[in-house]
Amino acid sequence: MSGRRRVGPSVSRRRVALASVAVAFAAGLAAAQPPAGGSVAGRDLFASYCASCHGLDGRGGGPQAAGLMVPPPDLTRLHERYGNPLPRDQMAAFVDGREDVEAHGPREMPVWGERFFEGDPGPPRGVEASRRRTIDVLVDYLQSLQGFEETRLRR
Ligand code: HEC
Repeated sequence: MSGRRRVGPSVSRRRVALASVAVAFAAGLAAAQPPAGGSVAGRDLFASYCASCHGLDGRGGGPQAAGLMVPPPDLTRLHERYGNPLPRDQMAAFVDGREDVEAHGPREMPVWGERFFEGDPGPPRGVEASRRRTIDVLVDYLQSLQGFEETRLRR
């Protein structure tokens, strides 16, 4: 969105901006209804960052999917290739993408490890930790999409 103001160079101003984003995000979460599976936070993140390609239901029918060279896979069927429960570390590493791109070169899927907290003053440990927490919540959500009875009961 071009209407969003870029955060200035001052570290303290950036911190303030980040804090207000966190507050707005928390307020949004408080207002949302809990979904059938996975956490509200996970569903929210998925809707904001993933659904444009993977579809709200994770099956790959998002509005951007048709324009991609590689079609986004059906994320509700990840267990068929990775087993259930999903291998957390492998899923997290793929979503983060920084190592993946180092090893295999550019990919169509965004490198979320860079996108999340882009423009952050970094690299204090807190930034890496909150990046990991965000990805962790998304991996939980991917697990909740697998549709197994035990997965739904797990939470
Ligand atoms: C711009 C479109 C796009 C967006 C947005 C997107 N993805 Fe993807 N995703 C893809 C494509 C295309 C693939 C296929 C692998 C590739 O990139 O070559 C993929 C693959 C995946 C895979 C691996 C599936 C497998 O078969 O191993 C996972 C997991 C995944 N995405 C999760 C996510 C999550 C979580 C988000 C949101 C944080 C997200 N994706 C956002 C396009 C996207």
